Order: sequence, then structure tokens, then C-alpha cells
Amino acid sequence: MSLAQTLCVALLGLDGHVVTVEVDIADGLPMYSLLGLPDAALSESRDRVRAAMVNCGESWPNRKVTVSLSPAWLPKSGSSFDVAICIALLSAHQSIDPAKIRDVVFIGELALDGRLRSVRGVLPSLMAAYKTGVRTAVVPTANFEEASLMHNMEIIPMEHLKKILLWLRTGERECSQEFDLEWEPNDDRLDFADVAGQVQARLAAEIAATGGHHILLIGPPGTGKTMIAERIPTIMPALNIAQALEVTAVHSLAGTFATRSPTSLIAPIVSPHHTTTRVAMVGGGAHAIKPGACSLAHNGVLFIDEAPECPSGVLDSLRQPLEAGTITIARSIGNVTFPAQFLLVLAANPCPCGKFSGRGRNCTCSSQQVRRYLGKLSGPLMDRIDMRVYLDPVGRLDMARTELGESSAEIRQRVITARTIADARFKGLGWSLNSQIPSRALRTTFKPERAAMSFLHDELESEHITARGLHKIARVGWTLADLHGHEVPMLADIKLAHSLRSGVEQ
Ligand SMILES: Nc1ncnc2c1ncn2[C@@H]1O[C@H](COP(=O)(O)OP(=O)(O)OP(=O)(O)O)[C@@H](O)[C@H]1O
Ligand SMILES: [Mg+2]
Ligand SMILES: [Zn+2]
Repeated sequence: MSLAQTLCVALLGLDGHVVTVEVDIADGLPMYSLLGLPDAALSESRDRVRAAMVNCGESWPNRKVTVSLSPAWLPKSGSSFDVAICIALLSAHQSIDPAKIRDVVFIGELALDGRLRSVRGVLPSLMAAYKTGVRTAVVPTANFEEASLMHNMEIIPMEHLKKILLWLRTGERECSQEFDLEWEPNDDRLDFADVAGQVQARLAAEIAATGGHHILLIGPPGTGKTMIAERIPTIMPALNIAQALEVTAVHSLAGTFATRSPTSLIAPIVSPHHTTTRVAMVGGGAHAIKPGACSLAHNGVLFIDEAPECPSGVLDSLRQPLEAGTITIARSIGNVTFPAQFLLVLAANPCPCGKFSGRGRNCTCSSQQVRRYLGKLSGPLMDRIDMRVYLDPVGRLDMARTELGESSAEIRQRVITARTIADARFKGLGWSLNSQIPSRALRTTFKPERAAMSFLHDELESEHITARGLHKIARVGWTLADLHGHEVPMLADIKLAHSLRSGVEQ
């Protein structure tokens, strides 16, 4: 037979489509054509496949070779089709039994000597293959760990083309060491116990982790803004398996397992530098479309240090994900959507020189400069921030204290308890966090107690807060109520929420 086929997967964002790789070898002048919207990297597969085959002692068919990737309309990119093309070719060349490769997906890039190189997006590819009924996959050994997350599939890790051929021809296969896949629930390296003082910022972090409220931390250098932000994932509940798979799939596509283990259940934290570009923030790219920081932070924390230094276009690009929980990147080949539901944590110095504090000591900036500095954080973005907390320089007393602050584990326990209460309250309503309560519901079903409401209305009347501010305070009030075990937000909860919103020092 001179016609054969294998399976592979094309990814459009996180969406995978199983692709049939067909190879036909016909008589005629030696030539090779690759059909089905391949990009440049994929078109180069011919040279990689040929070199790998020849270097593994196989012969290249010196005839007319046609490789067709279908469905043809689907754009295909990257080098992960190499192995599937190579195996189909050898099968059409009659050196592999077609029955052996039926219903197996082959994923991997070939090095010129026949080794299998790791590729991006193995997990989302396998998820798509599984959905269409494929149960067996050959992947590069380097991708075995993430592939093993697909419990219901037989995953065959391979490091060399020769070994694949040996297996297909004789059934012989080195027993690969099974991954004893254990999800990793906690990380003890960072702990809130390390943070001295900063009572208000610690409380704000706890509220943020509980209700999903975005926060801005303002303070002079060295007061612990970065320290606190980095520790927020340690007080968030562990991800459930479905969330963890989503996070791992995004990281698989971005190729960022150096910074995060595929089996981690800890909420991710991503901190793009303030010199970052729009594409790095929300995703995109010239060739393969990669997810950006806001998608890598999905189900976790997006931390932007020195936020006022960030070009405003970059910060404003977060509006869509903050609104929708997803980010859509428009391309000529169609739109690609990535998940992007994150807790936004911004940090800022109070002024350009960084030394401004309530008492104004040491600061060399003019009052106009001070005002303008935080003003760089645009209105639309600040509208999404529920708490604005000032950090004071850590006092000598705080640092001298020998007992440590409360540990992350203790705080996390409270966060989980409060989240459980909120979860039960919002059952069947389509949201689960207090930060997601729609404004209308805040005026009807989810109204704070009467005294709290009249306090808010007074504040509104005297123009201390706006209508939008009122809603934010009410939402944070709900989170405080859950943390304090109150049935509805009481006056004290609302007053505390109010002070956290405006950054009034207590
Ligand atoms: N509240 C604190 N408790 C204990 N150590 C602290 C505290 N604040 C600062 N430190 C110490 O100072 C170092 C710097 O803190 P951190 O980077 O969090 O400050 P920052 O506010 O982010 O400063 P910058 O504005 O320069 O980014 C920490 O690594 C820690 O050793
Ligand atoms: Mg910092
Ligand atoms: Zn200053």
C-alpha cells in the first residue's frame, strides 16, 4: 500500500483539533508536497523528517510524496507534526503495519538525528484527542509529566524515532518509568509569617484572597509590598483538579514549566515587569499565538509591581479580561480566546522618589508630582480596584518582635471557611465570589444591614463616595461579613470596607 495515515493535533489557542495526516507515495519524479495550511515551521518538517529517517537507517522514498493534513481549512503551525508525518510516511512506504498506528496520536518534533524534542501544548492537545475518542498517544519523553495528567489515556513516552519504530515493528518497548503523579498542594517556601507588622495590608490580602477583590498596595520602597503580594497564593484555597488542569494547559502552551510545576495545585502568581509589552500581557505573537501574563495568572494572581511605571496602554489592555474573565485575540485566521480570571494586585510607590508618606518626610517631590504619579493609573483600571492600602515603613517595634506573624496556613483556613459560606449563598446564581455580585443584586437580594446601608447613603449624599464606590464597599463588606461570621454585612464591616477602599489610615 502506498497510502497511509496517522493522527496529530492542531491547536488554536487552547482549542485542539485532531488532524489526520495522510501520506501518499506515487510513481513519478521525486518531489514532496505538504498540503493543508502549514506555517513556515511546519513546512520545514520535510527536512527534519528526512534527516531523522535517514539518520535512523530508514530509506527516504525517492518518489512523489504527498502529505495532506486535514481538515484542510484549519491553520496548522509548529513542529509538533514531525513524528506523525514521519510515521505515516514509513507506513505508506510499507515498513510499518497500519493496524499498529490506527487511533494513536503522535506528537513531537524530530531532531535531525531522530531524537524527539519536546513541544508546547501537549496537555491541551491530548485533552482534544481524548474528546474525540483517542485513547493512546506517543509523546516526547520530555513532555511525559504533563501528558501523564491525562489519567484515562495510555501515554507512551519516546525519546528517539528508533525506539518508536522498534515498538511499532516488534512490540518491544522499554518500560517507561511511570510517573507517580501526585498533585502538590502546598509550597512552604513562602509564608505570611515572614511579614512583620503591616496589619492593614495583611488584612487586605486576606480579604482579596477570600472575595477575589483586586487591590492596590501603596508604600515607600522596602515596606513589604512585593513580599505580601508574592504570598497571596499561599493563603488562597488549593486549586481543584479541573482548575489545575486549566492552569497547566495554559502553561503548557506558553512553555513556562520552568516557573511552575505542571502538577501544582497552588494558585499561580505571575508578575510581569513594568516594561512589559501589550502582547506579553494579554497574549499574541507573530507566529504561534501564545497566552500572555493575564492568562498565565488564570485562577491565580496577576501582580504588577511599580504599576504607575507601566505604559498606560499595557494596563488598559487588562480591561477586557477584568470584565470578561477571558481574553480574545483577533487574528486573520480567526479569534483565539484564552481564559484569564485573575486577582489583580498592583503595587506602587506613593510618589516618583518613593519616600512620600502621610507625614511627608524626606520626599523631594512637588505635591503636583505626587498627585500625578498615582494619577497615571488610569480611571478605568482604578475602577476595578476594590481596596487601596497604604503601607507605612515598618516600625522598629514590628521588626524587633521575635514572635512571627500569623502563618499562611492559619489565614488560609479562614479564607476557605469564608469562601464556603459565600459559595453556599450564591449557589445556582452563576457566580461564587463576593467581588462578582452584580450591582443590581447588591440593592436587592444582597443588601447590607439597614444601618450599614444608611451609612453608605450618607456617604453618597455628602459625595465622599460614588455610586460605583458604594457597590465596591458593599462587596468587600460581604467578604468581611463572611470572614467574621455575620449573616449580612453589619455597619462595622461596611465601615472597615470603606476605610480599605479609600486607603484611609486607621
Ligand atoms: N513588613 C516586613 N516584614 C519583614 N520584612 C520586611 C517587611 N518589609 C520589608 N521587609 C524586608 O525588606 C525586603 C524588601 O521588601 P519588599 O521587596 O517586599 O519591599 P517593597 O515594598 O516591594 O519595596 P519596593 O518598592 O522597593 O519594591 C524584604 O525582602 C524583607 O527582607
Ligand atoms: Mg517591590
Ligand atoms: Zn517623593
